[in-house]
Amino acid sequence: MATTPTAIITGSSRGIGRAIAEKLGQLGYAVVVNYAARREAAEEVAGAIRNRGGAALVVQADVGDRENRQRLVDETLRTFGRIDVLVNNAGITSQGRKDLLEATEESWDRVFDTNLKGPFFLAQAVARSMIHSRAEGIIEGGKIINISSISSYAVSSNRADYCMAKAAMQMMTWLLADRLADEQIQVFEVCPGVIASDMTAPVQEKYDRLIAEGLTPIRRWGQPEDVAQAVAALVSNAFPFSTGDRINVDGGFHLRRL
Ligand SMILES: NC(=O)c1ccc[n+]([C@@H]2O[C@H](COP(=O)([O-])OP(=O)(O)OC[C@H]3O[C@@H](n4cnc5c(N)ncnc54)[C@H](OP(=O)(O)O)[C@@H]3O)[C@@H](O)[C@H]2O)c1
Repeated sequence: MATTPTAIITGSSRGIGRAIAEKLGQLGYAVVVNYAARREAAEEVAGAIRNRGGAALVVQADVGDRENRQRLVDETLRTFGRIDVLVNNAGITSQGRKDLLEATEESWDRVFDTNLKGPFFLAQAVARSMIHSRAEGIIEGGKIINISSISSYAVSSNRADYCMAKAAMQMMTWLLADRLADEQIQVFEVCPGVIASDMTAPVQEKYDRLIAEGLTPIRRWGQPEDVAQAVAALVSNAFPFSTGDRINVDGGFHLRRL
């Protein structure tokens, strides 16, 4: 059985997840590249990791689906024998970005399944595996990192479900951090601001303008690599006496200014 530290990054076929997967691959983790629909993109990420000498496994799994989540964990353990890091990154935006008065239950269900229920129950399954592996002496501890958003506290009334699901992710992080501390599992929230990816491509012009007008003290788009750098710092042992923290990767968006 291989003993390489292993990281699952959900939604790592594109965007922020891809940057995190490649970064953790460079750090020596065996990487599980999870995706929902775009197999080719996921294979490309795995290929990039392998080309640099790393190990990667591609697993299709809808994080909103119970059986899919279990299969993701099972395939990881079958291939790599351990899970050291889970990055709950997969996420979707509000379907159709409809005004709050037009918001639909269909969008609510999809967004909450993918962005909140999936991450919570995947964290539960992974935490159980980490506790078991630690008891067996296979790992010393684990890290769970939840990718939330500035939308957890900044109002966008055309994405109400997205904002509410991301807001709940902070409490989810606190709950997991408290419960899992005795198990040597640290839990963190990484809170990205406006990041260039397929998710923000449809609203690029709007954000170009807002950023130029000073939306963020650091006047540029965030890049997926900015988020990956923060995740890399968290999975290193640079924060041994911390858990439950939110790390902002937002160019200073969260600062209140006069
Ligand atoms: N971009 C931003 O400005 C921004 C800001 C704050 C927070 N975030 C958060 O950061 C995370 C990544 O965002 P992104 O901008 O990189 O998004 P993206 O470019 O749209 O990529 C989304 C990724 O998630 C995967 N995915 C979608 N639904 C899934 C499901 N049900 N099960 C498994 N994987 C699924 C996609 O897989 P396929 O390729 O197979 O479709 C893809 O790999 C999200 O949680 C998002 O809310 C983004």
